[in-house]
Amino acid sequence: MFNKLCIIGVGLIGGSIAKSARAHKLATTIVGFGREADVQNLQTAKQIGVIDDYYVDIAAAVAGADAVVIATPVASITAVLALLKPFWSSQTIYTDVGSTKGSVLAAAQTVFGYVPDNFVPAHPIAGGEQSGVLAAVDGLFANKRLIITPVDNTNTEALRKVQRFWQGLGSAVSVMDATRHDHVLAATSHLPHILAFALVDMLGHKDEQSEIFKYAAGGFKDFTRIASSDPTMWADICAANKQAILPLIRQLQSELDKLYRLLADDDRQQLFTTFSYANNARQRFLNQIESIMSKSITFQIQPGGKLHGETRVPGDKSMSHRSIMLGSLAEGVTHVTGFLEAEDALATLQAFRDMGVEIEGPTNGCVTIHGVGKHGLKAPKNDLYLGNSGTSMRLLSGLLAGQPFNSVLTGDKSLSGRPMKRVTDPLAKMGADIKTTEQGTAPLHITGKAGQLTAIDYTMPMASAQVKSCLLLAGMYAQGETRVTEPAPTRDHTERMLAGFSYPVKREGSTASISAEGSLKAMDIDVPSDISSAAFFLVGASIAPGSDVTLKHVGINPTRTGVIDILRLMGANIEVLNEREVGGEPVADLHVVYSPLTGIDIPEHLVPLAIDEFPVLFVAAACAQGQTRLSGAEELRVKESDRIQVMADGLLILGVDAKPTPDGMIIQGGTIGGGVVESHGDHRIAMSFSIAGLRAQAPITVLDCANVNTSFPEFKDLVKALGLALVCTEE
Ligand code: S3P
Repeated sequence: MFNKLCIIGVGLIGGSIAKSARAHKLATTIVGFGREADVQNLQTAKQIGVIDDYYVDIAAAVAGADAVVIATPVASITAVLALLKPFWSSQTIYTDVGSTKGSVLAAAQTVFGYVPDNFVPAHPIAGGEQSGVLAAVDGLFANKRLIITPVDNTNTEALRKVQRFWQGLGSAVSVMDATRHDHVLAATSHLPHILAFALVDMLGHKDEQSEIFKYAAGGFKDFTRIASSDPTMWADICAANKQAILPLIRQLQSELDKLYRLLADDDRQQLFTTFSYANNARQRFLNQIESIMSKSITFQIQPGGKLHGETRVPGDKSMSHRSIMLGSLAEGVTHVTGFLEAEDALATLQAFRDMGVEIEGPTNGCVTIHGVGKHGLKAPKNDLYLGNSGTSMRLLSGLLAGQPFNSVLTGDKSLSGRPMKRVTDPLAKMGADIKTTEQGTAPLHITGKAGQLTAIDYTMPMASAQVKSCLLLAGMYAQGETRVTEPAPTRDHTERMLAGFSYPVKREGSTASISAEGSLKAMDIDVPSDISSAAFFLVGASIAPGSDVTLKHVGINPTRTGVIDILRLMGANIEVLNEREVGGEPVADLHVVYSPLTGIDIPEHLVPLAIDEFPVLFVAAACAQGQTRLSGAEELRVKESDRIQVMADGLLILGVDAKPTPDGMIIQGGTIGGGVVESHGDHRIAMSFSIAGLRAQAPITVLDCANVNTSFPEFKDLVKALGLALVCTEE
């Protein structure tokens, strides 16, 4: 990226920038600048190869540099900018690493009278207790957040370059204004440091008399780790951001006062409530960290093999979502077994905890929900983050439209690109107030319209269970009877489960209707295995000679069994055994043995009944004799990825003749080769290409498989146990 990169201040941060930039080949020459007093440190930096050269003369240091990074403490920024001013060049990009950004902008104002447009302030949220160049490491910024705080006149090209530079060092870059940055950091970094310093200061003085430190253990060490940070630097940071920090210290004092009172009054219940709120909030925070730090996961599959044995795949995703939603709105305690412990369903669970519902578990698929009743949800304190889960977002939008509070629904990159107008448009007709982005995507800003929604009679333009369920949930809070008509049958778990919870819902032909009259009574729910997860084994066993697999306790609701029908039309040998009904849903064991497949024209009426199974059905088609054609499936283009394009691209790489069409695909069955394919972060694509390995002629590598955790975290273990040679690597 840069010919010459100049680092001002080659300490822990500056040195780590240099080391990482070199490792990622982002700069040809890296030089350091320091004061006379720093010469020894600079010499060390040069000796250990962190920098190529160093200067104590600023003019020489910055001459011809494409980029200058100021990596000195915040208190010195004014002095450093003053030093740079006479040599400031429009050909150079300047950035810094200060932990407070208002003070950095103020320093620029003082020195220049304005913020130069090629100065892009940045803050890597990374560091360590040690200081000096010897502590510098390559990788300090990898998978860490970095915040850029541009001003109105910041040059876009400079901003983009700084952004690319930090992304090149592995950081997750966000852009926000300096004031917001300082408030956020005051709460999550500066206040905790003050607290750690304060606690050790207090206990240290006590310890002089009582030697209490002798008995301090892990908790004390973890909690006070940051009190080992550089005191000068932290005094500077706190002083620079005191406007944001002071009110937070007051808030913390009143929180401590509250806990003091609860303890003094023996209010164990409230103490528990406060601790469990904090416990859940921390888990949410850890999940977020995990998702930005998530390693890239690759599946490598050796060709051939067969699937053999008996297994039970995890619980149904659609029913798991709905069990939490309806259990929360019920009166009484709902026990769920077979709950899917995967990211999507857990996102729904977290959202209801955030709305004040006490939910125990999940432990081995068991969840206990202490229902709050239809009108018992509380305003969430923060945005509800729904990760990758379209079902959570679309169903919640309907439920939250009629609540007496406002809410904001957010999601990951994939979910933030998926169409939400399909729910917000009909909800608007009911009187809901939901703002999307201009593209009709999340975040969704919902203004609760309790008591103001009115029923509609709506015919859906597409066959979508999410849209239907969203409107039925909104209908529970609307005046009059809400009627939803579907152009083709879609999964009916919402209707069945509502009935199970004793809430009146009518079904006449293709129309489901509901009104606000009614309440939900808690019940026990046994979630069967997800036929969408079972589908990978149904196809795997059907295409790999010698396979024989039994899948236990699979949900075979007729609105979900399109995959069995389609595979049978292709010649698959699938037996449905021990059919029974569990909690209003049909369940069976599925026995599948290898059988040669033949290409077919997939009947369009089966499309909504197998909507999530097409990625793996495309793999079946690639192994079948002759041509398979799918049409009427344009919905596949707006799933977690564009499943038509992404599967066609991958199949082509594997040597399969696959032609995408606007609403489907034409696949010429034949042989599957090997190669490297992308899952595009879509769980079902990753699993489908893994299954293709059973009939491949060379190894298949599937990139970007972390998202398998959204629906089927056990996939790799189960599929390996049954015979697929899959190796999972993380880096
Ligand atoms: C789901 C409905 C389907 C399906 C999704 C889950 C549900 O989506 O693809 O995985 O639980 O209601 P659409 O309603 O968009 O077809």
